[in-house]
Amino acid sequence: MALFDSFGRKINYLRLSVTDRCNLRCIYCMPAEGVRKLRHQDILSYEELLLLAETAVGIGIEKIRVTGGEPLVRNGILDFLGDLSKIPQLRQIVLTTNGMLLPEMVEGLKKAGVQRLNISLDSLRPETFARITRCGDLGRVLAGIRKAEEVGVPIKLNMVVMRGMNDDEVMDFAGLTLFKPYTVRFIEYMPAVKDSNWRSLVVPGEEIIRRIESAYRVQPLDREDYLSGPSRNYRIYGAVGAIGIITPISSHFCNECNRIRVTSSGMARGCLFDNREYDLKMVVRTGGRIALEEALREIVARKPGKSCISGETSAREPLYMSKIGG
Ligand code: 5AD
Ligand code: SF4
Repeated sequence: MALFDSFGRKINYLRLSVTDRCNLRCIYCMPAEGVRKLRHQDILSYEELLLLAETAVGIGIEKIRVTGGEPLVRNGILDFLGDLSKIPQLRQIVLTTNGMLLPEMVEGLKKAGVQRLNISLDSLRPETFARITRCGDLGRVLAGIRKAEEVGVPIKLNMVVMRGMNDDEVMDFAGLTLFKPYTVRFIEYMPAVKDSNWRSLVVPGEEIIRRIESAYRVQPLDREDYLSGPSRNYRIYGAVGAIGIITPISSHFCNECNRIRVTSSGMARGCLFDNREYDLKMVVRTGGRIALEEALREIVARKPGKSCISGETSAREPLYMSKIGG
């Protein structure tokens, strides 16, 4: 069964946040003091998340990305992922993580059926990494990446490029792909934390690729497959890995958008930048599967055609990625 929105886009990808908590405090995601934590009873239980996932798959979702906060800090996450991977017709289960808990958990993730990891890595320099994440330990994340490679889970690295902060490392990250089988994705900084100066931090995707092309011969790649996200992909000639550029600011990819998002408290969004949320929690708790199916269809039907991110967004409510999972 296929699911289409009112603009004819096929919706087959659900981003499911399982917790708002995180063991880091990245500057582009949260204020230094962190964000108010949701209460236990406001978070969907694993049974509820599973019902939601099964229902979504029943109407056409084929790929689920588990996000947070940091998904690996929620107790019982490996069993949940194992249950998720038993859903027939679900073609892809992937997970976004900051990597801090990977050294001890990546084997379990592989066993639970996680097919790929997106690991946030914004710097290869310990001090810069610590400044961006406020409390992260680069050594742990690198150890986790090595372990993931050993265990055989494919890896994408997400680097949020910020001018004056880590943009001088773009070439180092691009160089990683020469001998490592990772896809390194450069992401334009989005104004997630209230910051009137945010535009000065954005390094446009065009500039990133131009810089890489000034040192390497680069070949554009086709889209990975019909389940893939909005990344434009390239390969440096002869490289083992690939490069992706994600441009939420400089160039819209709304016409290719195939996703919906649900937070750990059951708030669904058709678009990251559309403040209208649909409360699925009560539907999951009291409505049963048919009502849930209808609610999901309505979220898809109401999905906006275009985001408002390119406009003046400083008046917008600050959006904390820790809630919605990036
Ligand atoms: N701008 C760009 N990307 C962000 N992410 C989180 N916050 C932002 C932001 N403000 C992305 C990061 C992280 C993932 C969870 O979401 O790439 O890896
Ligand atoms: Fe945590 Fe990810 Fe936000 Fe960093 S970006 S604080 S790792 S949720």
